[in-house]
Amino acid sequence: MSEPNVVTITTYEAARDAFRHKQLRQALYDAGEVVMADVLVNLHGEAHRARRRLENRLFRRDSHARYERDLFPPIVAETLAPHVEQGRAELVGLSHQMMMNLAAFTAGVDRPQGTPEETFHLYSYMMRFIEGATLAHYTGDREAKRAEVAAALESFDGEFLQPSIARRLAALARSDAGEITEDDLPRDVLTVLLRNRDDLELPAPVVLRETCFYLLAGAHTSATAFVRALHAIFAMAATAPADAEQAATDLAFLQRCVQETVRLQPSSPVAMRWALADIDLRDGQRVAAGDKVVIDLMAANRDPSVFGADADRFDPHRELPDGVGRAGLSFGSGMHACIGQELAAGVESAAAPDGDQLYGLVPVAVQAVLRAGARPDPQDPPRLDPESARGYWATYPVVFTGPPRG
Ligand code: HEM
Repeated sequence: MSEPNVVTITTYEAARDAFRHKQLRQALYDAGEVVMADVLVNLHGEAHRARRRLENRLFRRDSHARYERDLFPPIVAETLAPHVEQGRAELVGLSHQMMMNLAAFTAGVDRPQGTPEETFHLYSYMMRFIEGATLAHYTGDREAKRAEVAAALESFDGEFLQPSIARRLAALARSDAGEITEDDLPRDVLTVLLRNRDDLELPAPVVLRETCFYLLAGAHTSATAFVRALHAIFAMAATAPADAEQAATDLAFLQRCVQETVRLQPSSPVAMRWALADIDLRDGQRVAAGDKVVIDLMAANRDPSVFGADADRFDPHRELPDGVGRAGLSFGSGMHACIGQELAAGVESAAAPDGDQLYGLVPVAVQAVLRAGARPDPQDPPRLDPESARGYWATYPVVFTGPPRG
């Protein structure tokens, strides 16, 4: 098969338009079907609309509030406590543990033991699934890797998913019998899927993949944002100490810092689509049916016509045009716009009713680390992963210099 023609979008308006175009279909995970076949982000048209409508029910304001205020803080505290006790932590490892535990909770994957060993075990499954979803970038023997990922899915199914399904089916039966209320049911994607399995024609392998997809969609993105935001705040201590202090004490400002970090370093630096028809893009480029469209988020989020002449600079005080989010297009837009955006990064201040602001789990988790008095370990500086062009941290040691802030 000949290589497709590739059209790259680098400006904000054209990128936003492309995200919303109905004749552009998801292309990022084509080689990753072992995990990604028929999962939400890969569906198109009516099939996507029906699944999204259903799953949207979980990602409503009342659920966000309950997650952020009641359900997540104990998980954050539980993950952080042993590190604070030791007086030090390695943020990359910590971020993965913390965000995966939160994502497992939202996806509906129970961790019955709740031990660090169980977290690591689940984490090793998740990393396998990420390898499966991103097989397009794999340079080794793809067939062998695909088989490895398929085997991991099968053991994850037996070990984690089937017991989680059994608990939820029992809870749904009790709810149908009137023994428990709607509010007593688990608030997670798996419960939503099980409840609507027949309407949506969801065979067991799709339930398995959709749950795994939520695990990786929620965990990896939030973990990277968490470490990068902490780095940006530590860096501010040298360049803008008043801002660094404000970030530690004012959650609304900290939320801006997280959003600015996510704008400058999107967790997914590109989005990709296949053109289903001939299209004229907003930036004047022409796309023919069958072309591949690459949306360069790194460039679109630094478009000076939207973010100003200093678009490349980290500035949480930045003034933005109406209708432009602080995180730029890092959460996508249009039909596939991130379903977890508000959960991860909250609602921007102006949009929230008075006194009822939600800040998002990344700012809340970053705040917990700052409150524990974290700062980079002067004896052991952080190191970027030399293998990664995307600027991932390989290790980020911190020490906790109490007393904890209240
Ligand atoms: C900082 C954190 C996050 C970032 C930067 C992020 C980014 C994104 C982006 C760019 C997309 C659109 C992909 C595309 O159009 O091709 C997306 C979609 C999605 N995200 Fe997130 N995400 C984050 C957190 C989360 C969380 C916490 C969850 C789950 C609770 C989640 C679940 C999803 C799902 C299910 C989709 C697919 C939506 C659809 O296709 O309708 N994400 N995310």
